[in-house]
Amino acid sequence: MKIEKVGVAGCGLMGSGIAEVAARAGMSVVVRELDSDAVDAGRGRIEKSLARALKKEKISAEERDATLGRIDFVTEVEGLADRDLVIEAVVEDLAVKNELFGTLDELCPEDTIFATNTSSLTVTDMAAAVNRPDRVVGLHFFNPVPVMKLVEVVKTIATSEQTLERAFEFARAVGKEPITAKDNSGFVVNLLLVPYMLDCIRQLERGVASIVDMDRGMVLGCGYPMGPFTLCDFVGNDTTLRIAEIMFDEYREERYAPPPLLKRMVAMGLHGRKSGRGFYDYSGDEPVPMDLV
Ligand code: CAA
Ligand code: NAD
Repeated sequence: MKIEKVGVAGCGLMGSGIAEVAARAGMSVVVRELDSDAVDAGRGRIEKSLARALKKEKISAEERDATLGRIDFVTEVEGLADRDLVIEAVVEDLAVKNELFGTLDELCPEDTIFATNTSSLTVTDMAAAVNRPDRVVGLHFFNPVPVMKLVEVVKTIATSEQTLERAFEFARAVGKEPITAKDNSGFVVNLLLVPYMLDCIRQLERGVASIVDMDRGMVLGCGYPMGPFTLCDFVGNDTTLRIAEIMFDEYREERYAPPPLLKRMVAMGLHGRKSGRGFYDYSGDEPVPMDLV
């Protein structure tokens, strides 16, 4: 059965992008956020992204309006009760994700699929918390969702073949190229990318080079689209810290250990673009590197 009605829990950096691509693919989308301020912020992210696509003539004004017309925003979790698929993109915290899925398990019809956009938690830990483990799957999108083509589809030992098939179908329907990932913390890409990001912070702590020179080094020397610190600020330092803590807990290898500097930055609210300051200060016309070490 084709997925036509999608629920998205969380309309932050990722949830807003997931809602956008599902609505642009013609699906009915209900987004649930915690309160009206968060709804307004999430709606604003989607409107800004669609305005960028309109400006680049990737969509028409009519398509923009039709896309927004397919997205409803709610603050009550009951708003997600009639969905074929619910994707959670809430904070990287297992307790929060499992509380949400536990509530949805009571609300949604038994054939509704639950998907998680987690970066580093294992999908099994969420499947174990609901009465439909065969209908739980990982759908790990990449930031920014409207641009990055990859979706990691994560199967647990309980995920049914039908659920997996529908997850792949959904990923393709929203214009993505899915790959299968095993349910290990970090799946495929983060297992490789996160240690690189953390190592760059460790080298910064050691004074190897400045924030700007390390960023320019990777862009000019390796053709990366963003340097590591620009990327950290883009992903969100709070999220990267949570990912590091979860992966270090899973693997106990130093390369996943959260660097002390990252912990201090998050404690001080330096979350990156999302809070206006991280490794860079974004309050002016151009990002200005922060004096952190
Ligand atoms: N939303 C929607 N579209 C966006 C966008 C956004 N936030 N940012 C850029 N774009 C679009 C632009 O409209 C432009 O579209 P066209 O090519 O059709 O003109 C295109 O992307 C390129 O954008 P720009 O030219 O403005 O800027 P850029 O060339 O620097 O590209 C970028 C921006 C695509 C973000 C690029 O810098 C990039 O790819 N950065 C790396 C991102 C990355 O590594 N993501 C993975 C993070 S890790 C993760 O997501 C997993 C996890 O669990 C943490
Ligand atoms: P974010 O902080 O930008 O957004 C999280 C949103 O979830 C917030 O708006 C918050 O209000 C909302 N929220 C929290 N609890 C909620 C609940 N119970 N119901 C509904 N909404 C709730 O975070 P993000 O960067 O979008 O990350 C979300 C998830 O996606 C995390 O699991 C993260 O690991 C994963 N992820 C992040 C990236 C990235 O680059 N930031 C990439 C891939 C995956």
